[in-house]
Order: sequence, then structure tokens, then C-alpha cells
Amino acid sequence: TISKAASNLNLETYVIGGYVRDFILNRGEAKDIDIVAVGSGIDLAEEVARLLPGKPKVSVFKTYGTAMLKSGGIELEFVGARKESYTEESRNPAVENGTLEDDQNRRDFTINALALSLGKENYGELLDPFNGIKDLQKKIIRTPLNPDITYSDDPLRMLRAIRFATQLDFIIEKESLNSITKNAERIKIISKERVVDEINKILLSDVPSKGFTLLHKTGLLSYILPELMALQGIDEKEGQTHKDNFWHTLEVVDNISKTTDDLWLRWAALLHDIGKAPTKKFDKKIGWTFHAHEFVGAKMVYKLFKRLKMPLNDKMKFVQKMVLMSSRPIALASDVTDSAVRRLIFDAGEYVEDLMTLCEADITTKNPKKFRKYHA
Ligand code: CTP
Repeated sequence: TISKAASNLNLETYVIGGYVRDFILNRGEAKDIDIVAVGSGIDLAEEVARLLPGKPKVSVFKTYGTAMLKSGGIELEFVGARKESYTEESRNPAVENGTLEDDQNRRDFTINALALSLGKENYGELLDPFNGIKDLQKKIIRTPLNPDITYSDDPLRMLRAIRFATQLDFIIEKESLNSITKNAERIKIISKERVVDEINKILLSDVPSKGFTLLHKTGLLSYILPELMALQGIDEKEGQTHKDNFWHTLEVVDNISKTTDDLWLRWAALLHDIGKAPTKKFDKKIGWTFHAHEFVGAKMVYKLFKRLKMPLNDKMKFVQKMVLMSSRPIALASDVTDSAVRRLIFDAGEYVEDLMTLCEADITTKNPKKFRKYHA
């Protein structure tokens, strides 16, 4: 239908971005498809809607020159090909009409700049000016332009790079990684909501520690979740040490992710020890202590959610409760190999009030060095 509409209006038209990437990677059903027209994306959307049975409603966003319609459970996003130029002074780019190539140039990664033609003559032709296919095969995240330009144009892309690397199990190319490290502080100008969206996607990946290791390595973590950074390191006094609670936390998050897809349990795992940094003390008789870290941690959860503009609702309270219960259900469950038993412990964590007596064990990261090396 889109191809027919494009031909009716005599518009050069392409499918671009995530849909093409996921189609090539065979990553399941698409929920949204981005369409670029060299000309008016809004006109194309209206023509597509006219041809579709039931004539779906078109939502037009005039200021952005985009339009959206829903058909068969899929969101179709239409945009006119454009050229963007950013200046130091403004976060919003100057936008002008452009060619397909201009539009591919403004995209974040080579694997997101692939375009499939919907034209009558060259239907299905793949336009790949930056070797995105090769990067898909080699599992590499790379920017089409100099990474310093791509990341400073939109600093959220630093988080997107890490998110895609985690979701797809790709490697971020070295120059890109250096550029992220150099530009990390610029993440401060991005809205909290957009940042949290990316963190949630990292947390919902198969192995979230990959993303958090990269956030740590690039320095982004200290701007986003300084509470976690503070957990890093091992102190030694009178020959006594404690475990590295940052790497321990990542291990717990990975373990939990094998059992549950619940975002809030994963957040609880991520934050389960944050009270340990401010409560750390050395006691001559008993060694390192983190007295009352659960209570301090639960308070910190509230502050952290507030700072990140996350909703202060029942989900936040649930995370607080898990942390308050000494995170023992999390710690215990993540140390249990049988997934049915793990599930029971999680459920208990949610419903049983007095868990302190039920779960007295705690996980210790047996070999943080090995774990760190694995993710290096
Ligand atoms: N894009 C970009 N820079 C951004 C966000 C998006 O260049 N900061 C471009 C990319 O080409 C991307 C497309 O817009 O593929 C669509 O963005 P989005 O829907 O956010 O992501 P997807 O790539 O579709 O991936 P996902 O659906 O997994 O978020």
C-alpha cells in the first residue's frame, strides 16, 4: 500500500531505521515502522490512509513535519527526508529538506541508517552508504559520521549505543567508545525521562550487567546513578576487606534477570545495596559493617526516583520495600540455582511481611575479579 501511495504521489520512498535493522537480524515482529519520503511525509501518510481499508486516522505533527497512523497493530511513522545541522548554542537542530543521503547522514548508527526502497522500479533495493550490513554481521555499533559530532548533536545517543550493544550483544567500536567517554558529561542536558527509558531497556535486556559495565567504563554512570558508583571498591583495614558491592550488584541483577522479566524486581536488584556506601564503617571487633543500610537504602530509593523523575507510585514503594527487607529475597533468590525455588522466594518477597527470619543468607560475590574480567 505504501509503495502504491508513493507511486501515486510520485515520491521517492524508503523504509528506514530500526525496522530494517531488526528485519535483517530476524528479531521478531515489528511494532513500528519508519518511512522516509523525499518530499512531504505528511502527504504520503494521508495518501496511505486513503488507500487502506477503514481509512485510519492520521496524526499530523506539523512542527516536526511528521505524521503517524496505526494499521494492523503497527505504527507507521512518516517523515520527509531532511538535513539537520546542529550549532553549539542550541539543542534543537536547524532542519531543511534533504535527500535520502542527507537523512541517512543524520542518523545515530550505521545499523540504523539502512534504507529499503519502496519505489516501483527498485522495490526492495537496500541503500547502505555506511556499510551497516557489514557492521550487523560483525556485531559493531558505529556512527555514520565522526562520533564526536553524532554524540554531541544528541548526547542521548551515548546511552542508545550502550543500550543497543547490550540488547543485541554488539561491541561499540573503539573510536565511538572513546568519544562517549570524552563526552559523558553532556548527558546532563538530556531530559530524565529519555535517560530512564534507556536505562529501563538496558535493565530489561538478557544480561543487563553488560550495559552497566559500559556505563561504568565510560563514566556515564556517575552522572546518572552516582549511588551505584559509590558502591565500587574494596577497603582494607587491619587485614580485613569487604566485597566490592558494585560488581556484586551487577552479578545479582544478572542472576535475577534469569528468573524474572519484571522491570521493578530488576530495579530492586540494582538498588538493593545502595545504602551500603553511606553506612560503611569499620568496627575493631567485628570488622566492616553496614549497619541499617536497608533503611538508608529505602530512603535513597525515594530520592533517586524523584531525581530521575520516575513515578513515585506503588512501583517505587515496591522497590523500597524490597530494599528495606534487606533485599534478602533478592540476594537469596539470586543465589539459588533452581528457578522454581527462586520464583517462590520472589513471590514471598512480595507478599510475606516478616522475611527477616525466613531469609538469613546473603550472597557474596565469590570472585569479583573474575566477574570483572569477564565483562572487560
Ligand atoms: N534515531 C537517531 N537518533 C536518535 C534516535 C533515533 O538517529 N537519538 C534514528 C535512528 O535511525 C533510529 C530511528 O531514528 O533507527 C528510529 O528511532 P527509535 O524508534 O527510537 O529506535 P529504533 O532504532 O526503531 O529502535 P527501538 O525500537 O529498539 O528503540
